This record gives sequence, structure tokens and C-alpha cells, in this order.
Amino acid sequence: MTSAPRRIVLDCDPGHDDAVAMMLALGNPAIEVLAITTVGGNQTIDKVTRNAQSVLAMCRREDVPVYQGASRPLVHRVESAPEIHGESGLDGVELPEPGAALRDGHAAVAIVDAVMGAKPGEVTLVGTGPLTNLALAVRLEPRIVERVAEVVVMGGGFPEANWTAAAEFNIWVDPEAAAIVFDEPWPVTMVGLDLTHQALATAEVEARVGAIGSPLSDFFVGLMGFFRKAYKESQAFDDPPVHDPCTIAYLIDPTIVQTRRAPIAVELRGEHTVGMTVVDLRGPAPEGTHTQVATTLDADRFWGLVEDAIRALSDAE
Ligand code: BDR
Ligand code: CA
Repeated sequence: MTSAPRRIVLDCDPGHDDAVAMMLALGNPAIEVLAITTVGGNQTIDKVTRNAQSVLAMCRREDVPVYQGASRPLVHRVESAPEIHGESGLDGVELPEPGAALRDGHAAVAIVDAVMGAKPGEVTLVGTGPLTNLALAVRLEPRIVERVAEVVVMGGGFPEANWTAAAEFNIWVDPEAAAIVFDEPWPVTMVGLDLTHQALATAEVEARVGAIGSPLSDFFVGLMGFFRKAYKESQAFDDPPVHDPCTIAYLIDPTIVQTRRAPIAVELRGEHTVGMTVVDLRGPAPEGTHTQVATTLDADRFWGLVEDAIRALSDAE
């Protein structure tokens, strides 16, 4: 008997790798996407929201509601990543017109409604952008803490970093929000750079997906082409790390993403370390530790899932 799909809200800032996370979540039967919520991050909130709608159009899944969220971090000034994601946030492809209207209401409210409207333990929250919306949601309705199944976050590193010497982009953009999300006593899985730097879109991966030969697989190849160039120029990677879908792969099959339980704190006031995720790996985690970090990725099986999802969405085209 197959078990019921895991129901998720995907809070994201598409973003090339967020787009792949959407494809993986929408194209795998183990996941049911209740809503896509957007947050300013890789680009402005208007751009990433439109990008989310365009990716849904490419996937022919405009039935999935999209709610727009925070345009800026709680405390920090706005920062985006055009050097990685381009001026549109999804450079390298032509973006289709959104086919469905944006839903009314703020993303944080949509997150609260999704969790409170479901049975306890039924909804998982996935964050692949700055954590502003998730932090606002838990301040708006603290009861979501005991009601969610899990919170899975792409962000941070121990000790990998990419935006400063100590911080990863999503945490750096809104460290106060990240501190709120990591501090609440819900189960949190941090899928950080140590893991996602193992998810490299090699030429072989591009060729495998490209061989599907559909508009969606062409879209993936176009996205990866830009991402490859951007990562090469700005961070000297030969193959780009495709961070965000690792969160979804972990939910589909936790044997693909190894984890280790450990306390996590977010640095808010260091001179050189603001936005750093401080992971305490000294010995076994203390009793009651509610956070864990992803350590090792089975990259072959991960890319197999991405390929299968794009094929499934393409067959439905
Ligand atoms: C994270 O930052 C963004 O640029 C990516 O979409 C990913 O979520 C990686 O540091
Ligand atoms: Ca992202």
C-alpha cells in the first residue's frame, strides 16, 4: 500500500533552484503542494511571485494557489542576488505569462490557514528563501508550532558559507527571521550548503534531463545554462549547486539525505559572523534537541528523482 502524500506549503523566492524544487515537488507523487508562497530574496517580491506563477504555467499546474508574502526582511535592508539569478530572477529562459491570478491575502496568513485548517501533524512547511514569511506566520499564530509535521529549510551551513565568509544567502538576508524559525520548538531540518554543494548539475545531468525533449525539460536546461555561467563567474564552481530541491528530496525519501541531530543557533550580532548558523556537533545531541542538519546526499538518486519528476510533468503536458 502506498502511503498518503506529504502535504507541503513551499515558501520560496524563484530563483533557478527554487524552480527546480517546484518541479520536483509537483512531479513526484509522494508530495502534495497545498500552496506556493513567495518571499523577496533572489529578486524583488513582484519578480519572484511572477516567476513562481510562470513555473506553475510551465508545469501546467496553475491549479496550485500562489500567495505573495514579505517584500523585505524583518530588520535588515533588502538584498537580492542578480549575480546568481539575473535581473528577472530566472534569467536564461523565456518566462510564460502567468495563467492564473494571484490569490488574495498575505503568504504568512496562507501558511497559518494551511496548518490550522489541517489535522495536527499533516502539513510540512518548506522554506527555500529568506525565512521572513515563516517567522511572521509563527508570530501571527503560535499554535502552528505544535501543529506542523516538520519545517524543512534550505539555508545555512556548518561551516560552508556563500554570501559572506560566515553566512549563507537565505539566512544572511533575514537572520532575525531565521533565528525565530530555528528557535521555535517544532522539528526543524536544516538543509544547508554542506549538503547542497553535493547537488551539482553536471553536464551529464543536463544531458539526461534534456533527453526528455519536452518544453519543460528545455526550460530546465535553459535555467541550468544560465546558473552554470553565473556560478562559474561569481563563485568559481564548475557545475552549479542546485540547493533548493534537496529539501523536497529529503521529504520524498529521507534515505537520500542523511541527517544528524544537533542544536542550531543563528548569529545576530557578530562583527564578521552575522547570519552564521552555529551548529553544535560536540557529541550526541542533548535530550529534546528539535533541530537536525543534513550531512550527506546520494546525488545519483537525487538527480534520478528530479529527472523522473520532469518526465512525469512532461508526459502530462
Ligand atoms: C540559496 O540562495 C538562493 O540564491 C538560492 O535560491 C538558494 O535558496 C542558496 O544559498
Ligand atoms: Ca531560494
